[in-house]
Amino acid sequence: TRPNLHRIAVIPGDGIGKEVVPEGLRVLEAAAATFDCAFHFDHFDFASCDYYQQHGEMMPGDWKALIGGHDAIFFGAVGWPETVPDHVSLWGSLIQFRREFDQYVNLRPVRLMPGVPTPLAGRVPGDIDFYVVRENTEGEYSSIGGRIFPDTEREVVIQETVMTRVGVDRVLRYAFELAQRREKKHLTSATKSNGISITMPYWDERVAAMAADYPDVCWDKYHIDILTAHFVQHPDWFDVVVASNLFGDILSDLGPACTGTIGIAPAGNINPERRFPSLFEPVHGSAPDIAGQHIANPVGQIWAAALMLDHLGEGRAAAAVVRAIEDVLARPEYRTRDLGGEASTAECGKAIADAICV
Ligand code: NAI
Ligand code: MG
Repeated sequence: TRPNLHRIAVIPGDGIGKEVVPEGLRVLEAAAATFDCAFHFDHFDFASCDYYQQHGEMMPGDWKALIGGHDAIFFGAVGWPETVPDHVSLWGSLIQFRREFDQYVNLRPVRLMPGVPTPLAGRVPGDIDFYVVRENTEGEYSSIGGRIFPDTEREVVIQETVMTRVGVDRVLRYAFELAQRREKKHLTSATKSNGISITMPYWDERVAAMAADYPDVCWDKYHIDILTAHFVQHPDWFDVVVASNLFGDILSDLGPACTGTIGIAPAGNINPERRFPSLFEPVHGSAPDIAGQHIANPVGQIWAAALMLDHLGEGRAAAAVVRAIEDVLARPEYRTRDLGGEASTAECGKAIADAICV
C-alpha cells in the first residue's frame, strides 16, 4: 500500500524563521521514514519582508489559490521591523491566513519539558501537561462599536462582544473532542459570568449543553481571575482548557510562560472541518537580534510539526516527535544558547530527527 501523502505549503518568512523551518522539515522527513507516511513540500517565498521589498506587497494577489489546496501550512515567523512596519507585515500575511482560512481554533500545548527551567518552584516534567484552546475569530475581538462626541466631555466609546451560537459551539466541540481523546478526559472552561452578565452566562450555557454530548468527559469552569491563579499554583489540575478569544489570548501566553522559554512553544491555527488548510507555527517571532547566527532554538518549530502531524491524522508520529524533543532536551550537549547550551540550530534539529523511533 502507498503511504499517506500529505501536501504541505512551507513558508519560512523572515529572520530565524528561515533557520528553524528547515529543522522542522528535517524532523518531518525522519518521522515519515519511521511511520510510513510521506510529505510533498511546496516552498513559498511570500509572507516575508524580502518579498515585500521586491513586490511592494506581502503576498501575491493569488495567494489563496497557491496555498488554499494544501493539507496544511508550515509557517516560520514574519516580521523585519527595520524595513517593514510590523502592522504591515503581520496584517498582510498571518492575519490574512487566519481570517480567510477560518482558522477558528488557536491551539497551544502547555507541557513542562526536561532541561527547560520553569519559573514555578518545585515543578518537574510530568506535572504540567495540558492544552489551551482559544476561540480565534469572534468574542471580545469584534469590530462592532464606535466613538461619538470625540474630544468632548460627552465622549462615549463602545465595543461590543459578539458571541454566536455557531462560533461558540464549534470551538467547544473541538475542545470536548480533544478532551475525549486524552487520558484524563477533563475539560475546564474559562468564564466570568459574575461580571460579564450576558455573554459569559451564554458561554456557560453552551458549555453545559455541549457537555451532554460527551458524557465521558468530566468538566468544570472557573472565573478567569481565579483561573489565572490556578495556572500558576495548580497547573497539574488541567487537561484541556477552553476559552473565548480574550481569555484564551491571556491563558495561551500565561500557560507557556509557566513552562519556560519562548523558543520551544508551538501553536496551531486550525480549521477543524478541513475546508481550508490549518497553519502550524512556533509562538516566537523572527528574532532579528539573533537572526543569521545559527543559534536559534528550533524546538518551537519542531513541536509545531508535531501538532501538524496530529492534525493530519499521524498521531503516532506526532507522539514520537514530542518524545524525541524530550529525549534531546534532557541532554545538555544539544541545548541551544537560550537554554544555556552551545549547540547550533542544526545540531539540535539533527539530534531530534535522529532520536525519532517507534
Ligand atoms: P521574538 O519572538 O522574535 O523575539 C523575542 C526574544 O526572544 C528575542 O530576544 C529573541 O532573540 C528571543 N527568541 C525568540 N525566538 C527564539 C528562538 N527560537 N531561540 C532563541 N531565542 C529566541 O519577538 P519580537 O522581538 O517582539 O519580534 C520580532 C519580530 O517578529 C517582529 O517583527 C514581530 O512583529 C515578529 N513576530 C512575529 C510573530 C509571528 O510570525 N507569529 C510572532 C511574534 C513576533
Ligand atoms: Mg497574545
